[in-house]
Amino acid sequence: MPASDLVILREALAAEPGFVSGAALARKLGISRVAVWQHMEKLRTQGFVFEAVKSRGYRLAARPAGLHATLIEAHLKARARDIPITVLDTVDSTNDEAARQLAGGRAAPFVIFARRQTRGRGRLGRAWHSEANGNLYASFAFRPRLTPARLATFTLWMGANLCELVANFCQVAPGLKWPNDLLFDGRKVGGMLTEARVDADQVRDLVFGLGLNVNSPASAFPGELGRRATSLAVRTGAALDFNRFAAALVGRVRLVYAQFLDGDHLDRFADLWNRYDVLRGKPVAVLQGTHRIAGTAAGIDDAGSLIVRDDRGRSHRFTAGEVTLEKAG
Ligand code: BTN
Repeated sequence: MPASDLVILREALAAEPGFVSGAALARKLGISRVAVWQHMEKLRTQGFVFEAVKSRGYRLAARPAGLHATLIEAHLKARARDIPITVLDTVDSTNDEAARQLAGGRAAPFVIFARRQTRGRGRLGRAWHSEANGNLYASFAFRPRLTPARLATFTLWMGANLCELVANFCQVAPGLKWPNDLLFDGRKVGGMLTEARVDADQVRDLVFGLGLNVNSPASAFPGELGRRATSLAVRTGAALDFNRFAAALVGRVRLVYAQFLDGDHLDRFADLWNRYDVLRGKPVAVLQGTHRIAGTAAGIDDAGSLIVRDDRGRSHRFTAGEVTLEKAG
């Protein structure tokens, strides 16, 4: 996509709900007004509608609803414009694609979005339902200089920030279920899958994958999933501006990744975790292999392990495992 299209979209978005003048665009791009119009014609074929009003200029009257790389870039805040964004129509798994590109030597960071995945994966080898139904499938690729031990709280930190991003964007806050689920009233709205390749005592590279049910209707989830999953649109009753949300996501992930590397996120992490943790104080059961411990969730420790107190007052810590919320009483 030529840079001129990006500039036109940025200027049109910045002028919203007002108009941007054709002359100003031509000056900014160093091209003629006819050439500006030609770019707009091309954008029209991609679902953008520019309303033209004499002596006022152009206004963006409609835009594509689905994922659009240039529109995401146009929405990006200046400080987040250093992350290359790739939008794929179909891929096996954005995590796998990011890992392949890292292994092939691509410079990090970068982010891969896909409209649809044919082999979307979740934790514990589960499949992640990934139809082209208005939901978000994204993977962020990094090469952090960290020891593997430092990664223990990475997904938790990202998840707490994603809850806040959604809360700010949608005015409804999801909860975070240790270690990687975003929930609304017990129904899953998103899941995270962090995968690292490690050399001895150093992380070689890291892929942070996010599946977030954004605009799908309730009917998009087949069978049993229909009872366990929801989407932001179902929850708020309105479709989200997908590309604006995707840009906000890129900006937030980029910022909080840097804070995580610096290690200056700890106070804020405790704060966010306490705000969004849906397990604290609730009766839970944790399954680790065939080992099952029941008790009351009591937050996380500094290493991100889940603390569960059993009915004899003993504390158990879990670095991994499957948590279910039990019925109280
Ligand atoms: C889970 O809840 O178990 C984690 C689900 C993670 C799904 C996302 S979708 C984008 C990325 N690509 C994948 O194959 N998985 C993650």
